[in-house]
Amino acid sequence: MENPTLFSELRQTGPLCIARMFDQDARATLFHGDRLALLGQIADAGCKAELVVTSPPYNTGKEYEDQTTLEEYVEGQRQTIRACVDILSPTGSICWQVGHYIDGSGRDKEAFPLDLVLYPIFKSLGLKLRNRIVWHFGHGLHEKFRFSGRHETILWFTRDVTNYTFNLDTIRVPQKYPGKRAYRGPNKGRPSGNPLGKNPSDVWDIPNVKSNHIEKTEHPCQFPIALVERLVLALTNENDLVVDPYMGVGTTAVASIMQGRRTAGSDIESRYLEIAARRIQDAWSGTLQFRPLNKPVYEPDTNTAVARVPEEWVATSRRLLEEEPDYEGSESEQGLG
Ligand SMILES: C[S@@+](CC[C@H](N)C(=O)[O-])C[C@H]1O[C@@H](n2cnc3c(N)ncnc32)[C@H](O)[C@@H]1O
Repeated sequence: MENPTLFSELRQTGPLCIARMFDQDARATLFHGDRLALLGQIADAGCKAELVVTSPPYNTGKEYEDQTTLEEYVEGQRQTIRACVDILSPTGSICWQVGHYIDGSGRDKEAFPLDLVLYPIFKSLGLKLRNRIVWHFGHGLHEKFRFSGRHETILWFTRDVTNYTFNLDTIRVPQKYPGKRAYRGPNKGRPSGNPLGKNPSDVWDIPNVKSNHIEKTEHPCQFPIALVERLVLALTNENDLVVDPYMGVGTTAVASIMQGRRTAGSDIESRYLEIAARRIQDAWSGTLQFRPLNKPVYEPDTNTAVARVPEEWVATSRRLLEEEPDYEGSESEQGLG
């Protein structure tokens, strides 16, 4: 189990020293360069990660990636995954958070689910799938020719079938009906649930980081701290090493530092790493603004104007359907959560 005093004592020793090349004694390493170089440094130092968690580029032509063929992309991922397996501890986990690679545009869009595309690589390297976690979120693009995408997945693999770190009690969530009692058997009349809460299941409802999210930086697709924090708590112990080869603005590092783990990550964009360094320092000093894990998703108050159907719509909805069948609403509908 964790030793809570160790980390809090360390924190009081002053600002955090962030290493720029992998250093096994550093609490945080931010390496500017290619992921294979960092993973090689960790391997050369003979260090093992208890958790590798990442959200790789999806080959969608974002500002930080050159779009290639799906085959080339998969080959690049194969190299990364193999290097991650090389540094994985015997009880360790790899969590790969992905969505879809989309080919084409408009009606021609074809979706390739990256978890299905990449699964055979993990399997061929001897890893065992523990869960395919569905990350559900409420906001995103309004599609016209297919259903709007509102989920991505996390593939959680372990190296070993039976001996792997899994601290379920650290990530339990409140039950829907905690007052339920056993109605028969030796515990009849006693509360039937676990007082620490229930297993959070493999469907996680966590808002994605859109423009008005408290954690938003200039990165176009950072993942929320809570998403990584749950994995860090469940799959590692205090002082373990957590690695993110595609670090972006350091969400993995922030969640790791907040929970008293060591962390190392790489990114090819130095401007993201500068933001990551600032966020890590703020996390270390306890001043970082973040959305707490297990904060319920916002449900609009049905009495507010924004949650009511505008009167104009009642009158015009019939006309819109008849005259503008493609009408999809405006982008301003996004990101309310
Ligand atoms: C989906 S983003 C990750 C965002 C991150 N999860 C966060 O919360 O900030 C993918 C990142 O991979 C980085 N990247 C792309 N190619 C890379 C490579 N060869 N080595 C290291 N990082 C790379 C990009 O610059 C981008 O920041």
